[in-house]
Amino acid sequence: MGGKHSFPRVSLSSDRVVLITGGNQGIGYHTAKWVAMMGAKVIIACRSEEKATEAIKRMNTEFLEEKSRGMEGIADIEELDVSFMKLDNASLKSVMTLVEEFKATGLKLHTLICNAGIGVHKQEYTEDGNEYLFQVNYLSHFLLTAHLLPIMKTSGPDCRVILVSSIAHRIVSFRLDEIQGKQFDEGTFDGLTFYNRSKLYQIMQMFSMNRRLADTNVTVTSLHPGVVETGLLNTFSGGFSGAGLRLLRCVGGSKTSFEGSWTTINAAVNPKLDGVRDVYFADSKSSTVSRQSRNKRDQKKLWTFTLECLKEYLAEDIIKDLEGNYTEAS
Ligand SMILES: NC(=O)c1ccc[n+]([C@@H]2O[C@H](COP(=O)([O-])OP(=O)(O)OC[C@H]3O[C@@H](n4cnc5c(N)ncnc54)[C@H](OP(=O)(O)O)[C@@H]3O)[C@@H](O)[C@H]2O)c1
Repeated sequence: MGGKHSFPRVSLSSDRVVLITGGNQGIGYHTAKWVAMMGAKVIIACRSEEKATEAIKRMNTEFLEEKSRGMEGIADIEELDVSFMKLDNASLKSVMTLVEEFKATGLKLHTLICNAGIGVHKQEYTEDGNEYLFQVNYLSHFLLTAHLLPIMKTSGPDCRVILVSSIAHRIVSFRLDEIQGKQFDEGTFDGLTFYNRSKLYQIMQMFSMNRRLADTNVTVTSLHPGVVETGLLNTFSGGFSGAGLRLLRCVGGSKTSFEGSWTTINAAVNPKLDGVRDVYFADSKSSTVSRQSRNKRDQKKLWTFTLECLKEYLAEDIIKDLEGNYTEAS
């Protein structure tokens, strides 16, 4: 439901670097705008430069309007520090290009928000041969995180990876043999299940990565933003989920895209969350994940499968950094 919890207005240093995927619209847009309005340097990683440029322009216009209205909790700056880097999650090469571009800036990285996503999608495979939802929502973010973690580990205290997941993770089971969905055809492929599973993988990733990041300055959290009126939500308008959605809208249970950004903003900026890991937020409060997502045997299967899918892009030093001192026994 559209709970009125909002988020703390904090002052962020202009040296604090936040990278958010899919910041050009929906939840990501408001997250990027507000984190920048609090003073941080924000990079929106988007697949369309045109849309990103337009979004940055709009963010600045809205910022100046807020400023002239005397909005509390926004930085005393002339212009937002928001820039664009190209990223198409449907291409692992594109992820690597962004990684190289980011490294070339020499910037630190304090917060990585894995927000980009697609909703219910037909059966389709990326240029890398992966099922679309699996790659766009989960796998490419995993690759991005793996390559940016070494930078985050040397960026000072309180670095955060935030995975924008969904409550939908709760209603699906993990099936290793169905990740790529090749046994299905147009008639039997269920895009809704594949979306829900992509969100389950993110929660499983949170637990697996945190085990490896224990005792480091980097934490991973995840969240459900709510049922939010964005383009993505409209992909759920068919079948059983569509009926539920219509009912929810009738009782005013969905959030605006601004309200939908609050839980992500809170996870990114709330100083009380320094050092907090393994938490899944809903309405900015710690919430319950599914038992399935906590299953360590399945987490291990997903981890191994993920590394196998990414083997061309994960050199030995990156794997070594990713695994840290973690062993099965630890
Ligand atoms: N809306 C909800 O009710 C809801 C509920 C639970 C979880 N979520 C999660 O919230 C996150 C944000 O979704 P939203 O609701 O804000 O949807 P949205 O308005 O449709 O925004 C999705 C963003 O992801 C980007 N994106 C899509 N495919 C991409 C790709 N291949 N490479 C790079 N970027 C890509 C989009 O870019 P383009 O503009 O170029 O398409 C857009 O910026 C998603 O992870 C979603 O699963 C949403």
